[in-house]
Amino acid sequence: MNIILIGFMGSGKSAVAQCLSQMLGYSLVEMDDLVYQKTNTRNMPEVFEKGGERLLRETEIAIAKEVATRKAMVVSTGGGVVLNKIILDYLKNSFLKEGDSSTASANGKVIFLNAGFEQIAKRLEGDDSRPLFQNREMAKKIYDFRLPLYINYADEMIDVDFLSVEKIALQIKDTHGL
Ligand code: S3P
Repeated sequence: MNIILIGFMGSGKSAVAQCLSQMLGYSLVEMDDLVYQKTNTRNMPEVFEKGGERLLRETEIAIAKEVATRKAMVVSTGGGVVLNKIILDYLKNSFLKEGDSSTASANGKVIFLNAGFEQIAKRLEGDDSRPLFQNREMAKKIYDFRLPLYINYADEMIDVDFLSVEKIALQIKDTHGL
């Protein structure tokens, strides 16, 4: 089984993915890092400089397709993957061989790390590594737009505001009998 963490920027996906992958002995897939590798950049501002948000989204789709056949992985997605349904389709069906749609039951579990906007703003204000969090107002609009998308894709939602990284990882482990 694969675990796919989704949620807004600053919701703790990377930290939880790292902790959970160690706990389970699964491989860790950090999608933002793969975006840097693939676009030959070092960080998100450079990705946006090079090709705008479009380059990011196209690269995310290509990465999801590439990693889709791997097993026993924890994926820390970028906060915007819910904008392209095909990304989660690839990640959830990671057991399928190319071209095989006959046994289409998903083996990836999508976990939504639900952090309140205030918590996120506290963490990210003043952090210039995220081009889509330039200011509170803009970020709140994106947050409100995306919230129903995260909920829609989630097999499980965890309210993370008052939970430690370790507790969140343990909860995922226990809920899915891993
Ligand atoms: C984005 C989230 C970021 C990164 C990029 C865009 C988004 O990832 O992919 O800055 O659209 O929400 P994190 O969620 O890991 O911060």
